[in-house]
Amino acid sequence: MYKSINLSLFILLLPFLAISQNSNDYNKKIDNLLSQMTIEQKIGQLALRGTSSRVKGGLSEEFKQMIREGEAGAILNVMKAEQMAELQKIALEESEHGIPLIFARDVIHGFKTIFPIPLGLAASWDSSTAYDCARVSSIEASSIGIRWTFAPMLDISRDSRWGRIAESPGEDPLLASVLAKAYIDGFQNEFKDNTSLLACAKHFMGYGAAEGGRDYNTVYMNEALMRNIYLPPFKAAIEAGALTVMSSFNEYNGVPASASTFLLKEVLRDDLAFDGFVVSDWNSLTETIPHGYARDERHAAELAFKAGLDMEMTSRAYENHLKTLLENGTIQMADLDIMVANILRTKLRMGLFDAPIPKDNSATLYYKNAHLEKAKEAAIKSMVLLKNKNDILPLNSSKKIALIGPLADAPHDQLGTWTFDGEKEHTITPAHYFQEKTDQISFAPGLTFSRDRSTHGYADALNKAKASDLIIFIGGEEAILSGEAHSRANIALPGKQEELLKELKSTGKPIVLVIMAGRPISLTNIESYADAILMAWHPGTMGGPALYDVLTGIREPEGRLPVTWPKSAGQSPLYYNQKNTGRPADSTSFVQMYDIPLGAWQSSLGNNSHYLDDGFTPHYPFGYGLNYSSFIYSELDLSTNKISQSDSLVVSIKLTNTGNRQSTDLVQLYIQDVVGSITRPVKELKDFQHIKLDAKTDTEVKFVIYPDQLTFYNNDGEKCLESGMFNIWIGPNSASGLKSSFELFD
Ligand code: GLC
Repeated sequence: MYKSINLSLFILLLPFLAISQNSNDYNKKIDNLLSQMTIEQKIGQLALRGTSSRVKGGLSEEFKQMIREGEAGAILNVMKAEQMAELQKIALEESEHGIPLIFARDVIHGFKTIFPIPLGLAASWDSSTAYDCARVSSIEASSIGIRWTFAPMLDISRDSRWGRIAESPGEDPLLASVLAKAYIDGFQNEFKDNTSLLACAKHFMGYGAAEGGRDYNTVYMNEALMRNIYLPPFKAAIEAGALTVMSSFNEYNGVPASASTFLLKEVLRDDLAFDGFVVSDWNSLTETIPHGYARDERHAAELAFKAGLDMEMTSRAYENHLKTLLENGTIQMADLDIMVANILRTKLRMGLFDAPIPKDNSATLYYKNAHLEKAKEAAIKSMVLLKNKNDILPLNSSKKIALIGPLADAPHDQLGTWTFDGEKEHTITPAHYFQEKTDQISFAPGLTFSRDRSTHGYADALNKAKASDLIIFIGGEEAILSGEAHSRANIALPGKQEELLKELKSTGKPIVLVIMAGRPISLTNIESYADAILMAWHPGTMGGPALYDVLTGIREPEGRLPVTWPKSAGQSPLYYNQKNTGRPADSTSFVQMYDIPLGAWQSSLGNNSHYLDDGFTPHYPFGYGLNYSSFIYSELDLSTNKISQSDSLVVSIKLTNTGNRQSTDLVQLYIQDVVGSITRPVKELKDFQHIKLDAKTDTEVKFVIYPDQLTFYNNDGEKCLESGMFNIWIGPNSASGLKSSFELFD
């Protein structure tokens, strides 16, 4: 009897015993290496050496010697398997301690098989979609020796002007946290084998709050905003096992993140118990000089080192100055050993010391059908139907279609931003695929690229439109118009797309507007031209087949907006979980600018928070998206209207598919903490479920709410749970739903 209990207990404890044994072994190996390494070799491990997007030509003898001397811990953008193999062989067999290199690349939303941009993946609200993108990316990238990706980007984004919103998980901390875990699981795959990529949670932190949506710009935020909104995805990533974090370019309350002791030690190490290593962004360590925080390169090295920045990407401040700083006592060897240990431990935990020299087995892995199928599925799940007047979609197959627009046949731009290795030759565009699938299509770009301001293509487009029953216009942004350093002050369709749409509207044919872009696009001027509007983001390699299946009804669009869709850039930043203010706007008092009577008295309009022109609501709310069916929410029920801080609350609704086809709705649960010791958002997403229902059927959808979901951080960074009234909504998006309330008591 006792023996069996001991045995079962031992079996239960086995994983934990194994982990602690591993870490003991790792610590012994690390201590042994540290005791033998010279200062130069220790400093070498802190260096991420690389070049911009790709090393061209062969490896120089100087580069190889650098590896032989142990002057690099990781290499960026060396993309040939044979070159990575050669460098790894040198590191393992010719350097004094045989410490392996980590080969890094930005594998953001696919390596060769390109998935939708991350903002599109976020629109799926589906962790398996994010996981699939990460897993397929890892299998393809690791097949030539890449073992570290600078992803996932976890910057909460509330400003559509910001170019990197395209790369973000959207505006909500809960959705971003769910995606963060999925990405880490998909990339790192628990380091089970050599298809695992070391993930990198970036950019730490607050990068998405850059003033004016201008990339790299100033960030001010207090602890409540940081801990309630911007930190949660990083917390989720680290809890999921992320072993690297990248510091961001921006300053955070006056201190560049790459030299911020508060961020890199107090928040990351102390609060989040992160025990991997921190890498700077590209030259962000030496950018503390133009920030006006470091006097010179040596001072920059000192500040970043003391803040706890482990590895320096591409700049050479550590290489140039750490030895001197050690010798003159400005920094301590013990701290250098801690940083080197962070890097060595990570290399041990990802199995790099035992990994074979990489060889190229990509031939059978790139663009595998299984990978392409997952990319197509991701594109379908990311597409958001914003308008569908008179249910013009799905298309009637007998219709003659004029396919028009600068993004209809744009194989490079369809892949979107941060796509270094995907090849446009593999992109299947809508024009290509639709013309393959049906002879009812006539194609005319009308404009040759998104910024095209010529009208040379109008005649052909208009003639084809007049000869058709319906127009599909695929417009949007070229890939270069979003992504890093590509913010826009005006987020309307660029070039003459709006003008061409107006001309097409004059033909009297119904228009289905499909947008391929890296951000929400201002639709105010053109919304009335379109009978249907579908946001396809930049959908990746399989965008054509995915779009065909969605527009023809083989599949329905399942996406929901991961960001609020503003009417214009002037409304940004704009997000659903805003504060109520002392003068919240409402439709009863709002008078649109052109409806204001002449000579109106100064205080005759609603004195509350709105714009005279664009009002106070977005074009489309966070969480919004249409189906090809219709749903009714009814019978909202709470298990109780009073819960103590140790109880839980069961909330349920009845969901009915009133339409004629099977359909999936995203049931969303929001909560408002009505009164707090600091003001609280008007509502916050607390849970969501994808519910698939057959036509004319219904089901009960249940959620359980726990008090911990009602907590928040105050301005002192303290976690609070405060009794009082809470409102609760369950509905299809953040702007509608059934409402009730409950009380939390002590
Ligand atoms: C860039 C980006 C970062 C990327 C790094 C390496 O500037 O900010 O996201 O991973 O440099 O390419």
